[in-house]
Amino acid sequence: MTTTTPIRSRERDALLQSLRAGVVPRVGQRHVQVGRAPEVEALVADVNRIAGGGSAVRFVIGDFGAGKTFFLHLVRSIALEKKLVTVHADLNPDRRLHSSSGQTRSLYAELMRNLATRAKPDGGALTSVVERFVSTALAEAQQAGADPGQVIRARLADLSEMTGGYDFAEVVGAYWRGHDSGNEQLKAAAVRWLRAEFATRTDARSALGVRTIIDDPTFHDHLKLMSRFVRLAGYDGLLVCLDEMVNLYKLASTQARNSNYEQILRILNDTLQGTAAHLGFVFGGTPEFLADTRRGLYSYAALQSRLAENTFASGGLVDYSGPVLRLAALTQEDLYVLLAKLRHIHASGDPSRYLLDDDALPAFMHHCSGRIGEAYFRTPRTTIKAFCDLLAVLEQNPGVDWRQILPSVELKQETNPDLAPIEEEEGAPAHPWTAQAGAAGDDDLTSFRL
Ligand SMILES: Nc1ncnc2c1ncn2[C@@H]1O[C@H](COP(=O)(O)OP(=O)(O)OP(=O)(O)O)[C@@H](O)[C@H]1O
Ligand SMILES: [Mg+2]
Repeated sequence: MTTTTPIRSRERDALLQSLRAGVVPRVGQRHVQVGRAPEVEALVADVNRIAGGGSAVRFVIGDFGAGKTFFLHLVRSIALEKKLVTVHADLNPDRRLHSSSGQTRSLYAELMRNLATRAKPDGGALTSVVERFVSTALAEAQQAGADPGQVIRARLADLSEMTGGYDFAEVVGAYWRGHDSGNEQLKAAAVRWLRAEFATRTDARSALGVRTIIDDPTFHDHLKLMSRFVRLAGYDGLLVCLDEMVNLYKLASTQARNSNYEQILRILNDTLQGTAAHLGFVFGGTPEFLADTRRGLYSYAALQSRLAENTFASGGLVDYSGPVLRLAALTQEDLYVLLAKLRHIHASGDPSRYLLDDDALPAFMHHCSGRIGEAYFRTPRTTIKAFCDLLAVLEQNPGVDWRQILPSVELKQETNPDLAPIEEEEGAPAHPWTAQAGAAGDDDLTSFRL
């Protein structure tokens, strides 16, 4: 398990910093990644299907702290490697799939801010995608000895047939005119429009001469347009990752929840019927977001029937082909491997610089199990944080033995903050579902194998 992969110091620092803060690292996940091989494989197949002209949708379901966000980031980095463009965002009360007061436009805008390509994995890549569309069209025009404006119009004609596509094509056309005439303002206005940053049609009309803007009702249509557009720019498709879907479950108004679920149904139908091309969606959510029959996706009959899990896949049998992908909890073995990887990263990939010997890893796990109970390896955030803290102390106090300080390593039981409903509109009563994390306190290292 101790590999000899060298780890660049920038990557090391970024990784350790995120993990200590309890957030999922943005880079270098492959150095930390453990377990979940069949789940990753299923998503790799999805990414390939999207790149090949198909579509995919997955609901990644896992308990609080189980690793959904980590998994989504990993899928995103795989998609980028495979030449897809990715967009991602967390849902929150101000960012939803359906609304009539701007929250959906705001979600779209967040997605566009986070638009990433392999060359710009950290986001902010929208302008370079548009640039790339223009430059490939120019190259094509030059090769064919054709008029660039005409080539661009011909390419954009593809978009004009789609819902909302006429103005989308007009806006990209405006970008090209700005590019051609050195009009930076026009280019900037076109990018602002594509980012859904125009709040009113009047403003859009005066800046770009178009009658529409990207607004709440056109969210899904615009993602479809964007998937077509990234193809025209030379990428293989678009992957949309939406995390923290539990925020829809938390909406107190039944009507608000249902209209958001209806939007999910549209996305799902589009995918299942194969009408979307080069487009995929990955949603991250907790089990109650999926299966709660009062407030979750299952409260919406059409979704419940489409998302019902394969009843044959029980008692140890698995099925990774349905839209719902349950993230199996990490095992103790996984966590052991993970700690070994953290030690390795901390030593910049050089085993001679390990700050802990092999005995320390099981001892540390034993300590965690004693402090926070049996669940410690299923929700690894706290354990990872504490382990990184321990490494940091050892690094700054050379000569200190881990045996001395291990007993004083503090770990707090994590609690799930997601389950309180958001009061709004009609103020429905709080849902009785309560966190069940950390129920058992038994110190079960007996089943642990190396
Ligand atoms: N497969 C994995 N390999 C290594 N580390 C992982 C893995 N999955 C999760 N982690 C780590 O575990 C911690 C919790 O993961 P993450 O934040 O993704 O959980 P989550 O399910 O999104 O939690 P929440 O319900 O709070 O959103 C993070 O520090 C993450 O880096
Ligand atoms: Mg998360």
